[in-house]
Amino acid sequence: MPRRPNHHSAEAASTPNSSPASEPATQPILPPAPDVPTALLGNLSPSQFMRRYWQKKPLLIRQAIPNIVPPLSRDELFELADQEEVEARLITHFRNKWQLEHGPFAPDELPSAKQRGWTLLVQGVDLHDDRARALLDRFRFVPDARLDDLMISYASDTGGVGAHFDSYDVFLLQVKGKRRWRISAQKDLTLQAGLPLKVLQNFEPEQEWVLEPGDMLYLPPHIAHDGIAEGECMTCSIGFRAPSESELTAQFLYHLAERGEAAGKTGALYRDPRQSAVERPAELPAALVERVGAILARVRWNEQDIASFLGTYLSEPKPSVVFDPPQRPLNEARFIAAASKQGLRLDRKTNLLYERRFFFVNGEEIAWGGAKKWLFDLANHRSMSAKRFVTLSHDSPVTALLHEWYCAGWIQVGELA
Ligand code: SIN
Ligand code: CO
Repeated sequence: MPRRPNHHSAEAASTPNSSPASEPATQPILPPAPDVPTALLGNLSPSQFMRRYWQKKPLLIRQAIPNIVPPLSRDELFELADQEEVEARLITHFRNKWQLEHGPFAPDELPSAKQRGWTLLVQGVDLHDDRARALLDRFRFVPDARLDDLMISYASDTGGVGAHFDSYDVFLLQVKGKRRWRISAQKDLTLQAGLPLKVLQNFEPEQEWVLEPGDMLYLPPHIAHDGIAEGECMTCSIGFRAPSESELTAQFLYHLAERGEAAGKTGALYRDPRQSAVERPAELPAALVERVGAILARVRWNEQDIASFLGTYLSEPKPSVVFDPPQRPLNEARFIAAASKQGLRLDRKTNLLYERRFFFVNGEEIAWGGAKKWLFDLANHRSMSAKRFVTLSHDSPVTALLHEWYCAGWIQVGELA
């Protein structure tokens, strides 16, 4: 199902189930190491999977996660869909007519579970729930820069979103009940006109399977697919962001212009001291086009500009993400004492990326200037043990920085146990 036009439109905010600092976090399930075969990928190692299937061809994996427990129950999903900050959509296919509504949905606004042919899609569940975030973390054998979000769908019997294609890679993990997936590598991706959602005009399925809880289907972009619930079911969709080339170009140029302004480079004004008087004022002067062409030809960038752009752009939280700072924050000394005992973890909404010279936290770029192994570890594990923190606790710029992040709600005391 198309998630949204780009990855910047999902939302988040405080939820009733946000854990207080002292509450133990959800047990992390580490992503499989690149060269270790894993049930998650049908006993391929992540390296083999990436080489053979990623962006190339579909893969059905039976019992990718045996004995799976849905990260949220149906009722918890419905509760999320009732929140203002959560992106939820209801798709109905009643009497052969597709309809789409956007949430929030009060429980009595959703059709009854007994009524056939509807589905509720909730986007960005990982931003709202630690169990959902933990499920997404299993897929961190793909760089965080590509990982987008976890969408959970609930469907009544025969519910689905119609045959369609997506423009990103997706793992469709069945977590409750059964769903029949039919897929096709067809070239004809023409959509039916006049519908509120993307439904293919001619769907010619080539393969089909019924997925049971724990089964998973990987689809690269542009594979046509249609998933129909057989009885009530829930599906988790782990999606990857894939900004278009034109979006990347536009955003990069914007970033460059902003940086240029910040560095005082773009202060020079356009000048035309040789402009003569004209008879046809509406005509765009050819000399103007030429001069602006010369200005644009002077725009320069280097690899660091590109890395800085990508780091800030990709770590920027989605527009309505709201962090929950602690209500009564510990002062720095107490924070150090608490983290020395309990360790730290990144808030589930925090994005922390790094590259050779900078790290990027929630859209901010910080020069790390030196060997900051602790930072790489925190970014890669999303957690820091108490023991590790103790080794840093006398480095005051580090503790001041971490305390600042704690006060902003970006990290919490208590490691992922
Ligand atoms: C998808 O087709 O991408 C997921 C739709 C669903 O979970 O119903
Ligand atoms: Co889809």
